[in-house]
Amino acid sequence: MPMASDSFEIKPLSGSVGAELLGLDLARDLSQETFEAIHRAFLDHQVIFFRDQELTVDQQIEFARRFGPLLVDPFIKSADERAELMEVVREKHEARAFGENWHSDNTYLEKPPLASFLYAKEVPPYGGDTVFSNQYLAYESLSPGMRAFIDGLRARHAPWGYHNAIGLGQFKNGGMKLRGEDVVNEALKIEALHPVVRTHPETGRKALYVNRAYTIRFEDWTEAESRPVLDYLLTHAIRTEFTCRFRWAAKSLAVWDNRCLLHQAINDVHGFRRAMNRVVAEGDRPY
Ligand code: SIN
Repeated sequence: MPMASDSFEIKPLSGSVGAELLGLDLARDLSQETFEAIHRAFLDHQVIFFRDQELTVDQQIEFARRFGPLLVDPFIKSADERAELMEVVREKHEARAFGENWHSDNTYLEKPPLASFLYAKEVPPYGGDTVFSNQYLAYESLSPGMRAFIDGLRARHAPWGYHNAIGLGQFKNGGMKLRGEDVVNEALKIEALHPVVRTHPETGRKALYVNRAYTIRFEDWTEAESRPVLDYLLTHAIRTEFTCRFRWAAKSLAVWDNRCLLHQAINDVHGFRRAMNRVVAEGDRPY
């Protein structure tokens, strides 16, 4: 296995995306050099995983802040007094999973997140994996004709795409709590216009940037007109050969790049609790 630096190894998870970083203890102070090597692996593999990490919430937040300032979710109440902390919980009785539609986090925001940091506290004995899909490859594998067609297009993203499909009702008796009704009603009005193909601000590579949860239509097109092309792109975006699948264990941490990656929480946990701590680093305006 290739050594990324003196202090850790990189073990790719599939031929197209994702790698486990072995031999690091994130609870310790990381030197700038080690952080830069981790960051390089994050850019190279789009999602990186760490196992057996004893992390307090503050340590998770501190690590995430090295990537950038953290974002407060407009819909979900934070788990405690730390506004940035979201507990992604699925109780035993719940039928739905938060994040079960393929998406990139919060793309309805003008400045959608750069990265998300998900730490497993309690996991089911089986099921509840997360899958990721590489959107550089999704873009690069389109025909030259389709690439030319979508290169200048922009699309509208709205949170109600997701919430309509899943239903705000899923939160009524679940482990995750919505903010107050007024706050949620205001948040449901948020919309953003983003390029369908974005250029990654750090790697300079182009990535497909639409998702099933939040993208509703192309700019100046109706939803009905947009649907066939969007459906094509959304199906193409998650072709198996662009993906990797992560099997969680308690104390695993995943860090994914929302600018070039889609992900999905697989909704196959029945009769078990799953509880994760999530924080998200702010991104910039896609271009
Ligand atoms: C998310 O979409 O942020 C949650 C993913 C997961 O719980 O696996």
